Amino acid sequence: MTKNGEYSIEDSRMSCKVMVSRDGPYLVSGNLPLAEKIIVSDAEGNPVKWGEGRHYPDQEKYDLCRCGKSANKPYCDKTHTKIVFDGTETAIRKEYAEQAHTISGPNLVLTDAHAFCAAARFCHRAGGVWKLTENSHDTKSREIAIQETWTALRKASGLGQRDWKTN
Ligand code: FES
Repeated sequence: MTKNGEYSIEDSRMSCKVMVSRDGPYLVSGNLPLAEKIIVSDAEGNPVKWGEGRHYPDQEKYDLCRCGKSANKPYCDKTHTKIVFDGTETAIRKEYAEQAHTISGPNLVLTDAHAFCAAARFCHRAGGVWKLTENSHDTKSREIAIQETWTALRKASGLGQRDWKTN
């Protein structure tokens, strides 16, 4: 944290920098590419993967809205100054295990911490991983629960299928 309460992340290899300004936008510099990822669903409407969304023009510097009220998202249009945005960090600093609750099924145990959810709904198919865990005595339910959990973890982490190692 800097003296004026700002945070910054810098990647020295690429000279890229993202600063979190106090009660204002993310200040991005160093020609960082900016693109949107969208959720792709299967024929039944179940989210199955991330797809390519809009790509924004390359810029040496830009400010990203953090207040959520810009009329020009994802960029900041200074609306945060009119609404008196309070950007104080509210994230919980507890470890995953401290935040997670446990669902015990007959053949599976699921731990889940809502604070880490990206709301992508990759674990909602076939009644959702929670219900499937409760019904894990059923082979099909157990298989789908495991599949959904792996998919959600892989998608949330940004890892592709080939990045997972199985024994
Ligand atoms: S942070 Fe500036 S408009 Fe949202």
